[in-house]
Amino acid sequence: MTEQQQDRETKVAIVTGANAGVGYGIIQRLLEQEEDIQIVMACRNGGRASRARLSLLQQFPSANINIELVDLANAQSVFRFCDNIKSRYTSINYLFCNAGILSTLGLNWKELVWLFFQDPAGFFERSDATIQATGEINEDGMGKVFAANVFGHYVMLRELEGLLDASGDARVIWTSSLTAEKSAFDIDDWQGLKSTFPYESSKWACDLISIKSNDRYSSENHHIISFTTSPGVVASAIIDLPMVLAKLRVGLQYVYRFLGVSSQTITGYAGAISNVYVALQPLKALNYLYRYTSLADRWGTPYVEATTVSDYDPMTAEKLLQHCELAYQAQKRLVSSSKK
Ligand SMILES: NC(=O)c1ccc[n+]([C@@H]2O[C@H](COP(=O)([O-])OP(=O)(O)OC[C@H]3O[C@@H](n4cnc5c(N)ncnc54)[C@H](OP(=O)(O)O)[C@@H]3O)[C@@H](O)[C@H]2O)c1
Repeated sequence: MTEQQQDRETKVAIVTGANAGVGYGIIQRLLEQEEDIQIVMACRNGGRASRARLSLLQQFPSANINIELVDLANAQSVFRFCDNIKSRYTSINYLFCNAGILSTLGLNWKELVWLFFQDPAGFFERSDATIQATGEINEDGMGKVFAANVFGHYVMLRELEGLLDASGDARVIWTSSLTAEKSAFDIDDWQGLKSTFPYESSKWACDLISIKSNDRYSSENHHIISFTTSPGVVASAIIDLPMVLAKLRVGLQYVYRFLGVSSQTITGYAGAISNVYVALQPLKALNYLYRYTSLADRWGTPYVEATTVSDYDPMTAEKLLQHCELAYQAQKRLVSSSKK
């Protein structure tokens, strides 16, 4: 079988942030449910990615898993990644825009205690008790959290649009969050540089881009559809806690879940259920205006709930897409001129 034939018959899934947490869970679920699928782990650290790949191969010995390095917070790295993908694959079925960071300076203990007693569910669901770094920029001069969580993925999906189209029914799946809220986002500060909650701002931006992109895909006759999801609350390393606090947090999460707080999915595998649900369900069973959220019952059995993205504002979404497109075109020109 030639490489070209193999590509046409085998589905291809790119998962960003694939070496841990929700991304790792997405791959486990895909490999469980899809017999013939090629996985591309899009990761920034070769060592961590290789260890995760080996661990996946222990669970799925015949799986087809490749690693492609990319730093989503660096536009040039994303362009290089996309060039590699274009040289190796002829189509892509799933692009999981999952990698993400929450840049913290520490914990706000006063807020933490207040939340614990006033809003026990919110205590875990929200990151209000963390002190987020404000005004951080990356080497491209862009908001650091926005670049990693949103813009790097935007460049990826624009650059890979041709390959996504070629699959005939491609799905772009953004891992958003329960904490994505309109109130956290200001279009005049679309990169969240002035925000004290740049993470929440970036996650609302994911929702806006996911939903609004569908208008363009539809008007330009692309064979692509975009969905937004939330993994619930996963005990991942995204919040950098000291070991003792991390363990205490997981213990409490199990207690909360047993008491009926369904947002506590806790494991990356459970948290990934909504991502893989929107990837594999027939299109007629899905609605791109919804956010698909992973939840779990008190015994830990995960399930998916679809809710409308309340407060979705198409005008703001359009403006955000325009900002991203202009920034994408500017980065593309830089790449082209550096190649000459
Ligand atoms: N955990 C939760 O409760 C929760 C709730 C709502 C939404 N989410 C979202 O779920 C997604 C996955 O998070 P997680 O909880 O699974 O956290 P995680 O375990 O920390 O995984 C994050 C992944 O993103 C990768 N990553 C971060 N910055 C990157 C960059 N610049 N370039 C390439 N990869 C990068 C990380 O790579 P390294 O390992 O190299 O750092 C890691 O593989 C994120 O988008 C997050 O916002 C999580």
